[in-house]
Amino acid sequence: MSTYVVVGLQYGDEGKGKITDVLSAKSDYVVRFQGGDNAGHTVYVGDEKFVLHLLPSGVLQCKGKCIIANGVVVNPKSLIKEIEQIESKGMKTDHVFVSRRAHVIMPYHILLDTYREEEKGGTQIGTTKKGIGPCYEDKIARVGIRMIDLLNPEVLREKIEKNLKLKNALFEKYYEKPALDAEEMYQEFLALGELLKDRIVDTELELNQAVHDGRNILFEGAQALMLDIDFGTYPYVTSSSPSTGGVCTGAGVPPTSLQNLIGVAKAYCTRVGHGPFPTELDNELGEQIRKVGHEYGATTGRPRRTGWMDLVSLRHACMINGINNLVITKLDVLTGIHPLKVATKYKTEDGKIIDYFTSSTTKLYDYEPIYEELEGWDEDISHARSYDELPANAKKYIEFLENYLGISVYLVSVGPERSQNIIRKELF
Ligand code: GDP
Ligand code: IMO
Ligand code: MG
Repeated sequence: MSTYVVVGLQYGDEGKGKITDVLSAKSDYVVRFQGGDNAGHTVYVGDEKFVLHLLPSGVLQCKGKCIIANGVVVNPKSLIKEIEQIESKGMKTDHVFVSRRAHVIMPYHILLDTYREEEKGGTQIGTTKKGIGPCYEDKIARVGIRMIDLLNPEVLREKIEKNLKLKNALFEKYYEKPALDAEEMYQEFLALGELLKDRIVDTELELNQAVHDGRNILFEGAQALMLDIDFGTYPYVTSSSPSTGGVCTGAGVPPTSLQNLIGVAKAYCTRVGHGPFPTELDNELGEQIRKVGHEYGATTGRPRRTGWMDLVSLRHACMINGINNLVITKLDVLTGIHPLKVATKYKTEDGKIIDYFTSSTTKLYDYEPIYEELEGWDEDISHARSYDELPANAKKYIEFLENYLGISVYLVSVGPERSQNIIRKELF
């Protein structure tokens, strides 16, 4: 058995898509286990750019199967659009399958997400407005519509009618917006089910068989630990568990089957949407990092907030995930910055020095990061393919992170393209 889990350790957009693409060449299965089309995973193949939202990033070069497992929330329209986009580039998608248990994002989920975000004076999260939160709410409330329901006309009609009674009352009476038509929605989603029917299967059976047979299985996380519903900066989080723990419930495989837990972090830090960000650089340097690192949301196009590496939150993320292999991406973006700063502790609002992450999101706004300074480098590192080719100060930066976290960095990414990697140890 060889299982690999790739998860984000910061606030998303660490480069999980690129790493998953690289690792998927040797995988028999690539599996998404949570989130939905709020994710935007970028893969460059030469000059060609692919942004994957729902499809596992292994779709481009995995010779086995790409699975959207039960823990994902699926917008069928987005899925069909993405499949068409990939096929229009001459690639096959007949290896893509969706769990019968995965929940469906319905139009009322998207509207509810949007109306809440637009509500004046509310506590906006800065969501992607893809309906993620409302869909997971219905799943937990046991009123959700699952992929399997799209294939059963009677159940689908009944569920849509029942759900719309409550949702329409909310839309009309509270938000003062138009109601949705149940019959129209039923016809539309029945047709979507028909288009997807050959891909809707019991994924947990096949995945457990694959674990049993010792196949290479790669689980691809979306979002990241600092956006985790339990361990992130609640309520400024997403509505799922993007941690390694989320793999078990999100794909139906047991904890004993998980082996290589790979955590991906940028050499600095970014965040899209609202919420605390202790090491944020709201200045010219932050703007420079945004420009050089092309830090604009892959899903919404919003400029990403940028800041220094935060080792306090990174240690928290590694602890919750049990990371045993680190990937550091975008080291090339730090070239030419002097000095480099890394937060190793926080000073609390009452002057206490701490080196652990807090559960109090409100207090976090008043915490001051305490930095250690490291010397930078000026050499172009985007062509380096072995660790020895890196300038001494770039190596010192990597080793500083390793020493603080007590986990080794197995891959350093020095550019967006598939080949721009320094692999220090073969995992596969
Ligand atoms: P994901 O959501 O974690 O898959 O990350 P995104 O795709 O949203 O954002 C990461 C961005 O950084 C993408 O535009 C990638 O092409 C790019 N990228 C990934 N690794 C590197 C790297 O090592 N260097 C540079 N310069 N860009 C990278
Ligand atoms: P990938 O997989 C970065 C953020 C949103 C918002 C919060 C909640 O590309 O790393 P949601 O729509 O999920 O209810 O929004 O989470 N967010 C992401 N930020 N990368 C992502 O995905 C994200 N997915 C959601 O900006 O702050
Ligand atoms: Mg992204």
